Amino acid sequence: MGDPQGTPLQQRPPPPRTRPLRTACVAVVVLLALTEATGAQPPDGKQVYGRHCEVCHGLIGDGNGEAAARLRTKPADFTAGRYKFRSTMSGAPPTDEDLLRTVTRGVRGTAMVPQAHIGAGELRVVVAYLKTLSPRFAEPARPPVSVPPAPAVTPELVARGARVYRASGCPECHGDGGKGDGPSARKGMKDSRDLPIVPTDLTRRPLKRGSDTQETWKSIALGLDGTPMPSYTDALEPGEIWALVFFLESLVTPDQRQPEERLLPGEEVLGDQIEREHQGRH
Ligand code: HEC
Ligand code: HEC
Repeated sequence: MGDPQGTPLQQRPPPPRTRPLRTACVAVVVLLALTEATGAQPPDGKQVYGRHCEVCHGLIGDGNGEAAARLRTKPADFTAGRYKFRSTMSGAPPTDEDLLRTVTRGVRGTAMVPQAHIGAGELRVVVAYLKTLSPRFAEPARPPVSVPPAPAVTPELVARGARVYRASGCPECHGDGGKGDGPSARKGMKDSRDLPIVPTDLTRRPLKRGSDTQETWKSIALGLDGTPMPSYTDALEPGEIWALVFFLESLVTPDQRQPEERLLPGEEVLGDQIEREHQGRH
């Protein structure tokens, strides 16, 4: 505190004239009154979207922004109302908290870099705006599924997970060793938009949802809507899903585990670069 060399805030000379400030205040008040009178919206979710999201997700939110062509994993189409990252049952829209989490933390390994820099208030209004892009959000909100507490990790639990992994058909897409090279993967897969999609290499972290095992539990239990990754809530017990999660963790070698807080090379760095180019134009 109090750098002796610098000028303390309260001793700094006052601004030369106060008039411009007062004029500006009057202008703002008049502007606000005008926007109210004409029915135009004050700074809102649509504007935040235009500034930070449109370059990838597109003017109408269909995922066809000007940068989309440069990206391997294409931006989400919000008009379909079909979301991968939910804590709700397959087919249901995500909760506000789900959307807030995805937007704040990003989708790892893709150009969807964390948007935490835009501030809590703007995050909230942009999430509200996303919900206006699909009629699916008019349905009564579905309660989130609660993740049961994780069991103690033992060699038996991991061995059980390995059995469940084989018995549940995971190797068909993700391969015997979890590297994403199962028979279906080799044939080539498409998502609901007919875009090519590859089963995740489960031996790396972070996954798209991050490295938190609770989030991996949700991916397996609830599936990723719009992709071939099914929901397993009907087929498996919650404990079997935990066994799977820790079997998958056992496949990750230390060199395949990247820290959460750094940008990953490839799509994440490209996403960051696109944002910088875009901000430069504003
Ligand atoms: C540089 C490009 C880029 C920018 C900018 C960007 N996104 Fe994304 N976004 C993506 C990509 C690519 C995906 C697809 C990730 C996937 O499907 O694996 C995505 C996915 C998402 C999802 C996940 C949807 C789901 O299926 O659950 C949400 C929510 C989202 N973006 C919201 C936003 C919001 C809000 C903004 C602006 C504040 C924004 N994005 C800015 C590229 C971008
Ligand atoms: C029909 C093919 C298919 C089957 C069967 C399948 N998956 Fe997937 N899975 C996928 C695809 C495709 C993705 C990638 C989705 C994406 O990147 O958007 C995926 C993604 C995942 C993810 C990553 C989520 C993230 O955050 O990145 C996990 C974990 C996962 N699967 C686990 C499993 C487990 C465990 C099983 C068996 C119980 C299984 N999958 C069965 C196709 C499949």
